[in-house]
Amino acid sequence: MAKVSTIVDSIQMSAVSSISIKASEKGWDDTIFMAGGEPQFSPPSSVNKAFSEIVEKGYNKYSPFAGYSSLLQKIKVKLRDFNNIHVNEEQIYTVPGGSSALFTALMTLIEKGDEVLIQDPCWEHYAQIINLLGGVAKKVKMVRNENGHLRVDREILEKSITDKTKVLLLNTPLNPTGSVLTTDEIKDIVEVVEKYDIHLVADEEYEGFVFDPYKHISPAAIYPKTITLFSFSKTYALTGIRLGYIVAPEDIINAIRKVSLYSFMYAPSPSQYVAEAVLSDNHIEFAKRACQEMFEKSRYLSKSLQSIPGVLCDDTESGLYVNPNFSNFRISGIEMSELLFERYHLLSVPGEVSGENGKGSVRLYVGLDQKVLEEAVKRIRSAVEQLSLVTN
Ligand SMILES: Cc1ncc(COP(=O)(O)O)c(C=O)c1O
Repeated sequence: MAKVSTIVDSIQMSAVSSISIKASEKGWDDTIFMAGGEPQFSPPSSVNKAFSEIVEKGYNKYSPFAGYSSLLQKIKVKLRDFNNIHVNEEQIYTVPGGSSALFTALMTLIEKGDEVLIQDPCWEHYAQIINLLGGVAKKVKMVRNENGHLRVDREILEKSITDKTKVLLLNTPLNPTGSVLTTDEIKDIVEVVEKYDIHLVADEEYEGFVFDPYKHISPAAIYPKTITLFSFSKTYALTGIRLGYIVAPEDIINAIRKVSLYSFMYAPSPSQYVAEAVLSDNHIEFAKRACQEMFEKSRYLSKSLQSIPGVLCDDTESGLYVNPNFSNFRISGIEMSELLFERYHLLSVPGEVSGENGKGSVRLYVGLDQKVLEEAVKRIRSAVEQLSLVTN
């Protein structure tokens, strides 16, 4: 029988998708889903009206390539007010979600054999997207400061660069650890990308969830040549509308237009209309409230897990996840995730899929109801008590 592409054949399904499929096959009625990262809070109320108006207003037709000008204008203002990024409308291109932003930007920039530097740890999709495009993903191991902050080290970064390096793909805030790049780190990184003439791509999917006193700094606010990827998925709890946008210098946007033309064509018109309604509301206030809610859940979970003897768990700088580490029990993240799944019906992501830095940890989504979080902590505590029995 005719085969599928060897590249596609070599690609693995992600840990989140695999464990979700396994869970649905089990059909348990007490499963706790902490593997994915889908905000549960309600989106801004303006969304309901916008959805009801889609057909009446004609947003069920093809849109202009980059997106409706009225939406691009709103995005331009959001970029100015929230990200300190100053661009014109021609530098913004809407796409079907943050995942599409990644795929489209990388497809525009790399060719077979090109190396793309990614952080260790990082989102497991990065390496697979790069592989799909015929590129080579190379991990740059992040290191911890004395105060526990995980940062990109300039020396390690420079040592990772070869004459095949085309792109540095940075994620800030970082999935899974929530680490936020500081201005000084970004300045260091910019010096390196300029010195070696490498594209800087910044994925800011989690820009809305940075906890006080940390600040989200968009690399493009410092280095305008940055190609920045944004999404409406997480900040506004709109994962289903599949809308994101790329912000880049005009020559890059012109190249992106060709990739868009021959792949998805245009971002969905209905989603653009909904997104415009979100940005017409007081979206910065909305995002602040959502961030505060996630902060409280995140701290509840990290503090509760810290109180389990032997478990290490950082208070995060941002984001929708915490990453308890179980190395003290001589167990890998893969084994711990398996134990939590099989015996406790709790879905997590093994830290190892994010890189060396994730060893011995599991990633847990924090944005669940308080009662569910309490039950999750109870189950993790029971699992750990069982481990002590095994290892002592
Ligand atoms: C770091 C990162 N970037 C991008 C995405 C893409 O999400 P979406 O396609 O829903 O915007 C995700 C999703 O979890 C993510 O974790």
